[in-house]
Amino acid sequence: MMNKVYEKLKRCHAALLELTDFAPRAALVLGSGLGDYAEEMDVVKTVDYREIEGFPVSTVAGHKGRFVFGYVSGVPTVAMQGRIHYYEGYAISDVVLPIRLMGLLGARTLLLTNAVGGINADYDVGDLMLLCDHILYGVPSPLIGENLDALGTRFPDMGGIYDAQLRQQARGAAEKLGFTLREGVYLQTSGPQFETPAEIRAFGSLGADVVGMSTACEAVAARHMGLRVAGISVVSNKAAGLGDTPLTHEEVQAAADKAAPRFKAVVTATLGAIGE
Ligand code: HPA
Repeated sequence: MMNKVYEKLKRCHAALLELTDFAPRAALVLGSGLGDYAEEMDVVKTVDYREIEGFPVSTVAGHKGRFVFGYVSGVPTVAMQGRIHYYEGYAISDVVLPIRLMGLLGARTLLLTNAVGGINADYDVGDLMLLCDHILYGVPSPLIGENLDALGTRFPDMGGIYDAQLRQQARGAAEKLGFTLREGVYLQTSGPQFETPAEIRAFGSLGADVVGMSTACEAVAARHMGLRVAGISVVSNKAAGLGDTPLTHEEVQAAADKAAPRFKAVVTATLGAIGE
């Protein structure tokens, strides 16, 4: 008997192949407030998540919930406008199903983006940060359960989870464009509540530079499949206890809007470089 998680993935894959035969080389996940990036693509086709039978559908305001297929600097790319979050109540295997699906479609490189709270005192609101590593905190591994041997090994190495070459490309792009790209450690909590100031102090002493509610579990699932992974965060607010005002989801969107031009430029240059 086929594993249930794998069976669901294969069913979604078959359903999606009925809707498009677009073969992406790269995959891109657009985080909170960053969905507009899809306007930068030469779009060939869009597929709403709800069109794919059995696909988990996101419920967060501002998340559109669709795949956009098209080209970024000539590189065939599938972008997710809206991702699934663990705090919505899905099983962790459902949270990473879209990532695995994009891998099955043929994407070999994955660029994850998100909005984060800044813990590192040097970081300002609006800064962009390249992920160099992560901490999965209070969120189960997406690989728990029977191993999906067709995708990867039981005990995958996570030592170089954020690809050195992709990071170099992103770094080079930011340099050329003339802005500072931070590099740091992302810590994923389950959310949906923002952290307490005591949690932020604890996460800082654990080695986290930023905190968010997505991404790390997606990177693990992608790495399990052997995809090359990169991650870019937009610092949308100072983390709890470090700023002057209460945290709101609206603030996250507003900061993402402000960072949008730099964000778009670095994503395009990074994805474009894989086509060279
Ligand atoms: N904490 C967790 N997730 C976030 C934050 C934050 O401060 N800002 C944006 N996403």
